[in-house]
Amino acid sequence: MEQPTPEQLTGLTDLDPEGLRAALLAAVDVLVEELARIESRAVFPAIEPGSLVPLFPKAPPEAPESLAAILADHRALVEPNATQWQHPGFLAYFPTSASSVGIVGELLMTALGQNTMLWRTSPIGTELEQVVVGWLRDAFGLPGSFDGFLTDTASTSSLIAIAAAREAAGMDVARRGLAGRPELGRPRLYASEEAHSSIEKAAMTLGIGRDNVVRVPVDRELRMNVGALEAAIAADAAAGHRPIAVVATLGTTSSTSVDPVAAIGDVAARHGLWLHVDAAYAGAAALLPERRADFRGWERADSIVVNPHKWLFSPIDASLLLTRRMDQLRAAFSLVPEYLRTLDREGAVRDVNEYTPQLGRRFRALKLWVLLRWFGLEGLRRRIRHHLELATTLAGWVDADPAFERLAPVPFSTVCLRYAPPGPAGETTDEREARLDALNQHLIDAVNRTGEVFLSHTRLDGRFAIRVAIGQVRTEARHVERAWALLQHEAAILG
Ligand SMILES: Cc1ncc(COP(=O)(O)O)c(C=O)c1O
Repeated sequence: MEQPTPEQLTGLTDLDPEGLRAALLAAVDVLVEELARIESRAVFPAIEPGSLVPLFPKAPPEAPESLAAILADHRALVEPNATQWQHPGFLAYFPTSASSVGIVGELLMTALGQNTMLWRTSPIGTELEQVVVGWLRDAFGLPGSFDGFLTDTASTSSLIAIAAAREAAGMDVARRGLAGRPELGRPRLYASEEAHSSIEKAAMTLGIGRDNVVRVPVDRELRMNVGALEAAIAADAAAGHRPIAVVATLGTTSSTSVDPVAAIGDVAARHGLWLHVDAAYAGAAALLPERRADFRGWERADSIVVNPHKWLFSPIDASLLLTRRMDQLRAAFSLVPEYLRTLDREGAVRDVNEYTPQLGRRFRALKLWVLLRWFGLEGLRRRIRHHLELATTLAGWVDADPAFERLAPVPFSTVCLRYAPPGPAGETTDEREARLDALNQHLIDAVNRTGEVFLSHTRLDGRFAIRVAIGQVRTEARHVERAWALLQHEAAILG
């Protein structure tokens, strides 16, 4: 197929259909080849900060360039300098996979060019979103009282939920703001010490402030201590503060621990507080009937976030925000200027922008609709179960090796560990911890430098922990075996 000429690329309108076909096919060849050779790439490339900017011209070209030249530069300059999230050895953070079907879905979504801000600007975007939200809600075993929509990230979903919680607490901040209202007291949020930073960021953004996020202590298994939650709320109420919401995390970021959401829900209900559940990563496991016990009680939440772009193999971005209180989200964000009114159908349609801080929205439901049909729920369950099994196997290897320690239970597909060889005689506990912290920092660097796998770290109970997070759709047993072999090998070299 002929490549489009520069003239075609810059005609006064757009490519003709044949030109578009040729351009897409050329790009498809490049991306398929890239995925085919992904394992020959270092997951994290050996590049230094600032080394990429000089590779690119200081100004864009005045004259059109050929697609062939652009794609050649993409292969030479872009692909090798990417962190390879698509690599099966990507075991860092929580993996995000652009599964093959996800790539197809994104392509269809982009080509349709929908802005789903209003029903009128995308009837199918608005209504297919309702369908997909209902499919996922039911597949997670949640009741029909949950409605919702899709956002870009869990950070946005949680921000929206907390803004709604504030409205539900009667603060009328959307209209009156916070400034100059001492009668409001200090609005307070409660989340465990292990909750994701996005909760504090939401508090920063919403004018609640980080100081008003009460970090509730956790138990030995890194789950929120419900007695401490109850005590913190009571102390705040006695001090004249204004408790608003409790955030329970099902699958915390560091260790994937599971807060006791049923008991937390009881406390929230007793104090009339909004319950937000952050299941951004682990929510996907609710597709498995045998794993529902971990989620028992989340059906009483006011809002729940699950990210299909984490463990449901959707390309970034796709975050599902479910809520039983759409009215409160609307109270927090609805503002309809004349130019956005739907005069002939006022009140009869859902305009999703009324529930979100931003106006323009992508048609994310399309890619999820394609993805859910392509995998089927069974296909998703099989892959999630596979990841759970791989993590259990790895945890067993760690436990069986006296030179390593597992630093947290493994409820899902993430294993936290450290290399812990014996130290010199007479070493104090503090000395031992400092030695192991340094050793494990060297170890993760050494393993990541191989380029075969990519791991990230956290701190658990003050200790430097290496995380192995299994969730890339392409990850197989051999990649986890290799990660473990590299950890053992590099550890032996470090001594
Ligand atoms: C539990 C939890 N919540 C929220 C987030 C934030 O996700 P996002 O990047 O979609 O904002 C993460 C990210 O890893 C997470 O682990």
